[in-house]
Amino acid sequence: MDLKSLEDLISEKNFKDSIEKISKSVNGKIVFSTSFGQEDQVIYHQIFASNIENIEVFTLDTGRLFPETYKVWDHTELKYGRKIKAYYPHVDELETFINGNGINSFYASIELRKACCSIRKVNPLKRALKGATLWITGLRAEQSENRNQVNAIEWDEKFKVFKYNPLIHWSSADVHNYIKEYDVPYNELHDQGYVSIGCAPCTRPIELGENFRSGRWWWEDSSKKECGLHK
Ligand code: ADX
Ligand code: SF4
Repeated sequence: MDLKSLEDLISEKNFKDSIEKISKSVNGKIVFSTSFGQEDQVIYHQIFASNIENIEVFTLDTGRLFPETYKVWDHTELKYGRKIKAYYPHVDELETFINGNGINSFYASIELRKACCSIRKVNPLKRALKGATLWITGLRAEQSENRNQVNAIEWDEKFKVFKYNPLIHWSSADVHNYIKEYDVPYNELHDQGYVSIGCAPCTRPIELGENFRSGRWWWEDSSKKECGLHK
């Protein structure tokens, strides 16, 4: 599989067709990561609606998610009747980190915040991507300047996997319309001003006019706001 043949399978104007072609034509393991954000719920719905069974859906449970996120996770599994595989941080790494630095030490420095994200998200992601050929995500270009540079299909050098971002050029209105049209379950925090939702202690709602990701790690410089899952 190479980048060009993957690019040939997708048409950004036809999400349903693209995801079906990807599922039929990619040789090897395909995985889709969901954090139960609204974009992920759209992708999940389409995978289910298209009866696609060879895409493994997984989530990284950091242990610090909002109760509302666990609620939409449960609701999604019940509604669609399909399990979502959970990956967890390594217990020894987590115990060493918390016992050495404190339960909320991620507020103390960028280094500690990144260490927490590594243990709770990046290392479990490495396990989830093991043996995968293609990784599907809900990234959107509008979310940040970094993400504005991202393509629908790309090679991820860090995780050594092809990455497919089917909604990369969707607007937030496109996402809302899809959710409404297909009655897709969503995290109720989206109705309370939360746009991008990660761990509870590191996410706040945003005000009208603020950048989409300004509610994530809001105490840090905006150029550093990635946790290591995406470049
Ligand atoms: S993050 O890097 O800042 O945390 P963001 O919340 O914007 O990412 O989500 C972008 C995409 O990354 C999601 O659509 C999803 O594919 C993946 N992702 C983020 N967090 C998780 C998670 N906890 N579990 C699984 N996938 C995740
Ligand atoms: Fe830790 Fe916050 Fe990163 Fe979650 S988002 S893994 S709590 S630093």
